[in-house]
Amino acid sequence: MCLCPVQNRYQKLEASTPFSTMNLTATNHRIPLSDGNSIPVIGLGTYSDPRPFPGETYKAVKMAIDEGYRHLDGAYIYHNEHEVGEAIREKIAEGKVKREEIFYCGKLWATDHTPEMVRPALERTLKVLQLDYVDLYIIEIPMAFKPGKELYPKDENGQWIYHKTDLCATWEALEACKDAGLVKSLGVSNFNRRQLEVILNKPGLKYKPVTNQVECHPYFTQPKLLKFCQQHDIVVVAHSPLGTCRNPMWVNVSSPSLLNDELLNSLGKKHNKTAAQIGLRFNIQRGVVVIPKSFNLKRIIENFQIFDFSLTEEEMKDIEALNKNVRFVELLMWKNHPEYPFSDEY
Ligand code: A2P
Repeated sequence: MCLCPVQNRYQKLEASTPFSTMNLTATNHRIPLSDGNSIPVIGLGTYSDPRPFPGETYKAVKMAIDEGYRHLDGAYIYHNEHEVGEAIREKIAEGKVKREEIFYCGKLWATDHTPEMVRPALERTLKVLQLDYVDLYIIEIPMAFKPGKELYPKDENGQWIYHKTDLCATWEALEACKDAGLVKSLGVSNFNRRQLEVILNKPGLKYKPVTNQVECHPYFTQPKLLKFCQQHDIVVVAHSPLGTCRNPMWVNVSSPSLLNDELLNSLGKKHNKTAAQIGLRFNIQRGVVVIPKSFNLKRIIENFQIFDFSLTEEEMKDIEALNKNVRFVELLMWKNHPEYPFSDEY
């Protein structure tokens, strides 16, 4: 049986129910964070490329909440954060959910890393969402860009304009946002081990990052980074858990399509599930949070139906062996940034 490494802490929260990822259910699937808060093990991803048409995100988020999702993953730079907020507020007003049952993760973009920009960026997100706080706010990428209104700043020659990155200074500004009650938990995204260590070893660290959101799925299982994060009580959140939309404009499609994988499909047949459900179950069963994106009702429902079956230890090992160590999302356009995270082994 796969036991979550945070078993002891969770037992402190709910002493009578020993925590195992095998006990997660459609109505009770939060896993503990090191700061005493908790995170639903599945969330709806809301990044869409091409950009969704107006109202599409709003409809998808409402459908997802109706189907049992309680975790929404968004960002200011996705350009649809207002629709996520509108849908959440409507579901609260309807009495379908209470605010405290919803978990919203927002993201600090690369142009807002300078300490004086951090709080205004978070306040802008809160204004867009029309919410009083976010549950989790994460540094979206460890690379700073030139501060300003331009989200993707380039010079007249089409070159990216980067900015001096000081992850510790950005982190301290985030800690102040938590102290001010604007955010419950703080995390990071696309950080490698060295970058995590920069924060973890920061003199006077007040709050540890509770999550690291990185690409993670059966073709990119992240064994070393996952182990490092587990050792430091950092929950890994898997973005692109289905292998992305495979848009060759920004996705490395040299690796074959995850959802066409033979093993995932044959295990799907065996369990009366789809390859997507097998891939998602694999991650949640090993304590990794998944945020599959879908704006399609059938697939929103499908992706949530991962609590009524389990994979055997042998099946988990077989899926782990699919790892190709190849990313779908390489962010190669920023490869010459001094803090480009994916040159290190992990
Ligand atoms: P759609 O929104 O039309 O459902 P990822 O979460 O790995 O980034 O993958 C998202 C992509 O996978 C989107 O293109 C989404 O399209 C598609 N998708 C989401 N759920 C499923 C599913 N259960 N089966 C097949 N494709 C899916």
